[in-house]
Formats: sequence, C-alpha cells, structure tokens
Amino acid sequence: MRLVEPFVARRVGAAKRLHGELRLPSDKSIAHRALLFTAMASGRADVVLRSPGMDVRATAAAVGQLGAFTETRHEPGGTVRFGMAGGGSATEASLPGRGAEMLDCLNSGTTARLLMGALSARDGREATLTGDGSLSRRPMERVAVPLREMGADVESTGGRLPVHVRGRRPLRAMAHRLPVASAQVLGAITLAAMAAEGRTTIETPGPTRDHTERMLAWLGVPITRDGNVTTVDGPTGMAARSISVPGDLSSAAAWLVAGSVHPDAALRLVDVSLNPSRMAIVDVLRDMGADIEVEEGAGSEGPEPAGDLLVRSAPAGLRAVSLSGAGIAALIDELPLLAIAMAAADGVSEVRDAAELRVKESDRIGRVVRNLRAIGIEADELPDGWRIQGTRAAGGLGGAPRRVRPTEPVEIQTGGDHRIAIAFALASAVGLAPEVEIDEPGCVDVSYPGFWAHLATLTSGEAA
Ligand code: S3P
Repeated sequence: MRLVEPFVARRVGAAKRLHGELRLPSDKSIAHRALLFTAMASGRADVVLRSPGMDVRATAAAVGQLGAFTETRHEPGGTVRFGMAGGGSATEASLPGRGAEMLDCLNSGTTARLLMGALSARDGREATLTGDGSLSRRPMERVAVPLREMGADVESTGGRLPVHVRGRRPLRAMAHRLPVASAQVLGAITLAAMAAEGRTTIETPGPTRDHTERMLAWLGVPITRDGNVTTVDGPTGMAARSISVPGDLSSAAAWLVAGSVHPDAALRLVDVSLNPSRMAIVDVLRDMGADIEVEEGAGSEGPEPAGDLLVRSAPAGLRAVSLSGAGIAALIDELPLLAIAMAAADGVSEVRDAAELRVKESDRIGRVVRNLRAIGIEADELPDGWRIQGTRAAGGLGGAPRRVRPTEPVEIQTGGDHRIAIAFALASAVGLAPEVEIDEPGCVDVSYPGFWAHLATLTSGEAA
C-alpha cells in the first residue's frame, strides 16, 4: 500500500478552457546561483524567491547547513526572503562552514555540480555530497575531471555521487574546452577559477544559459563571455547584493505549450525571466505557429531581464518542426513539453543531437517516447532524440488536435521526473490524450510547487 501522498496517482482530464493569469515560482537556475554566490560573497544581502521548489530548497538547505543564513522570512504568496551572510572576503570568494559537512543535494544536478566547484576552493575544509536515487545515477566526472586539472581534490564514487571534496587554494588557472555544452559544468569550473591565480578560459561546444556569468559580473567578478568562451581572472572576491528572482521560463513553457495547443486559451504569465539564452522555446513555438507576446517589464532586483508572457490558442494550429544542432542546449529542459506540441502539430517532427536528455532526472528520450505511445501517438526513439507523428490534420483550420485511441485512462510512468509529469498532465489537459493518471504527481515539486493548483484554477476558469 502506498502511504505517502506524492506517490498517490493523480488523474487529469481535458480542460474546457485555459484562461487566467499565473505567477510562477522563481527561476530555478537563477535561484540556485543567487543562494550559492551570496553564500560565497563578502557582506550581507537578501535573496528573495517565490515558491522555491525542491531543487532550490536543496541548495538553500546546503548553504544553510554551511551557516550562510542570518534569518529566513516567509512572506505572503509563497515568497521566502533569505537573509544571508557570505563566507568570502573582498579578495577571496569562499563558502562558509567548518568542514566535514554531509550535504544532501536531493534530486538536483545543479546543486551537486555547482557545489563541487565552490567547495573545491574552500581551503582546508571538506564536504561530502549525496543525492537521491536519480541524482546518484547521473554523471559527475564531467565536473570532477576539469576541477582536478585545476588542482582540486575531488573524489567521486565510480563517477557518481557520493562525491567527496577537500578544499584547497590556490587552484591552477587553465584553458579548457568542454566536450558538452553544459551550464552546470561551466558554472562549477568558473567558481573554482575564482580561486585560481591567473586567467581561466572555458570554451563550450555551443551556447549555454549565461546566468552564472551575468550574476558574477553583477557581483563584481572580472568575468566576460564572448560567444562560447568564458574568461575569469582570479583570484577574486565578490560583494553580496540583494536579489529578487523572477519566474521560471521553463515552468512558463508548460503554459506556452498548453495555451498554444488548446483551442480556447488566453494566459498571462506574470514576471517571468526573459534571459535571451533561455528564450529559444518562444522562438520555436512561434515558428510552429504559436501566438505569444512578450512584454518586457521593469525587471526584478538583480542582473536578469524579466516581464510578462501572453499566449493564446495558435490561430491556425501548430506546424511540425525539426530541431537539431548546437541550439538544442538552449531548449534542453523544454524538450519534453515540445514533444507534446509536436504530437499536436501537423506532420512529422524530429529532435536530434539531444543525447543529453538521457542523463537528466530520467532518460527523457525513453520516457517521452514510451508515454507518447501509451497515449496513442506514433513516436520513434532515436539514439539522440525522437521522431513524432503529429495528430493535427495537415491544412486544418486549427482547433483541438484529433482525439486518439485509447480512450481509457492511461497510466503515465514518470520515473519521478518532474518535467515528464508536467508534460503529460498537460497532454491530457489540452485534449491530446485521453484521461491520464500521473504515477508520482508529487515530483512536480522539484521545479514547480503549485503546478496542480495552477492547473485546477486555470481549468476552472478562475484567475490564479
Ligand atoms: C541548468 C543547466 C542545464 C539544465 C538544468 C539546469 C543550470 O543542465 O538542464 O535543468 O541551472 O545550469 P546542463 O547544464 O547540465 O545541460
């Protein structure tokens, strides 16, 4: 018998309409960095986050365990204000803490990987990083190898967690070329480079989200990004500044897809991060025929642009699309949602060059294709992506995609992966799938606490 609420399956059916206004949780990538960098800076500052999910709470718990919090205040609307005092000085960025901590990163790859870089330079102190079952299967040597090249003492367990880090300074500056376009790996090396003597340059094979570079520069670190090359001059400190983190574009993407596919949708997503390195999802959906407006706002307190996104039902339905090449990294978290848009489009869509999806919270290529087939969509698994036969009749006048068999409720096996749960709940809400039963609905809390409440308020037509 299953006793824990998150593991009780949740049934989702078609929504009559999707209308309303939503405020999404703070951007996960920016929130991790705000907490971690403030914990490494000199001085005091507040980090203000809206409805932080479990991944961000893992980073908060870790820096809290290291002693970086002065006061935590819960404000109305799910906002948390973390009063923080960093462990660094004007000339040396460093995490606080006495050493020998056991830090549980739960499900969060960003927490584990960024901490590996930050802890590498915590002179004379040690820590061990652990994680849940999913995170403990994910590769950590992609971070450990370049850190060791800089002289860091990082030991993984067969390439995975637990990882033990013995901090030391100074580290060695280096010129490095990453084999994968990963903002997590780039971020970890960047944090270590701040404790190295001289110039470190890191080149990625394609563009990556640039939250690390933006925030460090804003905090006074001599860092630049030119194309795919990041340059850091160490050793350096940074001075804490208060920051308020806007909503998460990757969570907003759920509603951009659902609103585009559903025949009766008009949604406003308020105060969302509009960082250009994350906007590819908007471009791709517009290429597919989506009606999305971007209203730049004054922006939250901090280094990131923000504003509102408005989405209405795609006026002539969605068109198929093929995605591949270096641009895939900028869409990596949105690809399961795009699979739903592809299934609702006309014609055959394809994703290639996305093998990284196999080492996310689950093997997202396998999960997307298996669950699409379960809801009656034709889909092929490729080594580095998928091919999907859309259900909208070509040349149709828009409206809901053709209903497909089976008509009985279908169990969606999420593997505890938040992005799979959200994507397939929406497949049903937009009428693409029959009723679905999400096997572990609580996993949405990893990135989007409140997702189920938002779905309920939107589908009932009340503003959220
Ligand atoms: C993230 C980077 C991406 C992304 C993850 C968050 C980040 O991972 O998938 O959800 O905050 O740096 P990679 O950089 O490993 O591709």
